[in-house]
Amino acid sequence: MIKKPRISESEIGIQDPVTAGMYDRLARQLRDWGWNGVREMLSADLGSGALLELGPGPGYVGLELARQLGSRSLTGCENSPLMVRIARKNAAEYGMAADYVVGSAMALPFPDGSFDCVVSSGSLHEWETPRMVFDEIWRVLRPGGRFCVTDLRRDTAVWKQWLLWLLVRYRPLRTGLQSSMAAAYTAPELTAILHQTRLSDAQVRRTFLGLCICGVKS
Ligand SMILES: C[S@@+](CC[C@H](N)C(=O)[O-])C[C@H]1O[C@@H](n2cnc3c(N)ncnc32)[C@H](O)[C@@H]1O
Repeated sequence: MIKKPRISESEIGIQDPVTAGMYDRLARQLRDWGWNGVREMLSADLGSGALLELGPGPGYVGLELARQLGSRSLTGCENSPLMVRIARKNAAEYGMAADYVVGSAMALPFPDGSFDCVVSSGSLHEWETPRMVFDEIWRVLRPGGRFCVTDLRRDTAVWKQWLLWLLVRYRPLRTGLQSSMAAAYTAPELTAILHQTRLSDAQVRRTFLGLCICGVKS
C-alpha cells in the first residue's frame, strides 16, 4: 500500500458567506441522515453535564448531541466569526441557549476544569498543533470528564472517499473535502501525537470513514 504524506490545511476555514451557506446545508443534510458522527459520540458515555464543542462550524453536531444527552449547557469555541454567526442562528432554531465564542482551540478562553465533556467533529485535521489542543482539552475538563474527537482518516479506502465525494455536490466543498482528506491523520500518527500529551491514555478507533478518539481525564 502506498502511503500518502500528509498535506496540512490552513486553520482559516471557510471565509466567504456563499461557501459557508453551502457547508451549512451539507451539515444539516448529514445531520438529517444521521451521518454526522453523533452516534459515535453517544456511545462514548459523555453524560449530561456542561458540554464544550471545538470547531463547531454550523453547530449541528454539538446541538444534536446536547439535545440527545440533555446537556446542562452547550458552549462552542470556533475560530471563524462567520461560522459562529451561523451556529448562533442554528441554536436559536433548536431553541437552545448555546454560547458560541470566537477563539482558538489551541488556547481555549475558559478556566481549568470548566467542562464535564469536550467534543469535536471534523476539525482536528485543521488544527495547526493538535498536541496543544489535546492538552487544552485536558486542562478545561474537570477530573473524570470525558472527551470524544472524531475526524476523517487519510487512509480511508478509496471507494469510501468516492462515496463522500458524490455526497458533496457543491464544487467548492468538493475541493475542500479533498484537501481535508489529505490533511487528515492516520491512527498511528494520532496515537503518536497523543502520547506527547496529557491525554496519552486516549483510545484511538477507526470508524467507517475516519477516526474516533475518546477517553476520560483521570
Ligand atoms: C470542517 S469544519 C467542521 C464543522 C463541524 N464540526 C461539523 O462537523 O460539521 C471545521 C471547523 O473547525 C474550525 N476550526 C479549525 N481550526 C480551529 C481551531 N484551532 N480552533 C477553533 N476552531 C477551529 C473551522 O473554522 C471550521 O468551522
